[in-house]
Amino acid sequence: MIGIHARAGSFSDKWIEYFSAKGIPYKLVDCCDSNIMEQLEECNGLMWHWAHHDHRAVLFARQLTYALETSGKYVFPDSKTVWHFDDKVGQKYLFESIGAPVVPTHIFYNKTIAIKWAMTASYPKVFKLRGGAGAENVFIIKNYSDAKKHIDKIFGRGYKVKNRLNFLKERLWHFKRDRTLTSFLNISKGLARLVLPKEAEKKFPTEKNYAYFQDFIPGNDSDIRIIVIGDRAFGIKRMVRKGDFRASGSGNIIYDKNEIPIECIRIAFEVNARLGAQCLAYDFVYKDKKPLIVEVSYSYSREAYIPCPGYWTRELEWVPTSFFPEYFMAEDFSKLI
Ligand SMILES: Nc1ncnc2c1ncn2[C@@H]1O[C@H](COP(=O)(O)OP(=O)(O)O)[C@@H](O)[C@H]1O
Ligand SMILES: [Mg+2]
Repeated sequence: MIGIHARAGSFSDKWIEYFSAKGIPYKLVDCCDSNIMEQLEECNGLMWHWAHHDHRAVLFARQLTYALETSGKYVFPDSKTVWHFDDKVGQKYLFESIGAPVVPTHIFYNKTIAIKWAMTASYPKVFKLRGGAGAENVFIIKNYSDAKKHIDKIFGRGYKVKNRLNFLKERLWHFKRDRTLTSFLNISKGLARLVLPKEAEKKFPTEKNYAYFQDFIPGNDSDIRIIVIGDRAFGIKRMVRKGDFRASGSGNIIYDKNEIPIECIRIAFEVNARLGAQCLAYDFVYKDKKPLIVEVSYSYSREAYIPCPGYWTRELEWVPTSFFPEYFMAEDFSKLI
């Protein structure tokens, strides 16, 4: 029996569809209820697609996962897949520990040391918060004084992961891109939120007391995102926003298989095997014709991948087909149970 925490619009919709169609027994559970262990008594596995912006999940989803694994139950996402989720600081150590090709990343927990480094660093650099998605907390740092401003703030009053100004900027970008009535109306929603903080912004703690910088990798008009689920991998190419260096969240996606370098597929498979992860999305940018990992995430917005024309097998063979990635997750998980 598989326990599923259902959340409309998340991976769970298709998990339920898959298990129902295959006649695999499952029950719906509520992970936020204190009696979750009781609910899972008859289950030997739990699947829960929790999001980085769900402040409740962030409080305990990892701990619940580790506890269930201790008791011998299976979880999706399991600890190897999820411990570094929405945590770029954790990912720095993770990728360095296994010698994966990663964008050089510099982290400081002391303001004086950070400033000393910034005084002699080369620019541009990229400053990020450890959490966030869609490039919301990713900033280009052009020079020392830019770096100093960010260092002062992160070791001072700190940053909000969910930032109202970012939210508005994002909506303006979507309006500029789409010029639709919906995108125009969304701007007013963004403006309203400038006054009225979004729930998420209020509920999340302030990010402070660490400074995360990456070397800026120039010359990329796009990034490559590869998602590995078990023995399959599929990918998209995301073009950067106009006049910007950031691809994630741009919504400008290319699905042509020939635009996805096979070396990214190979690296994603290899790194994923090393990490022992069930499902991870790897973002790559190119430096001197070599792909470097920017970050990883087990969670992603499912709609963006629906037009994918196929996937690669572990042997790097192309399988042209339409597919639901959630079915892959469910299929792999049901084999464990
Ligand atoms: N060090 C870097 N050099 C060049 N481009 C980068 C770098 N880091 C991020 N980017 C660009 O910015 C985008 C967002 O960065 P990322 O770290 O993936 O943040 P998010 O978690 O918000 O997606 C990436 O998709 C990539 O296009
Ligand atoms: Mg990203």
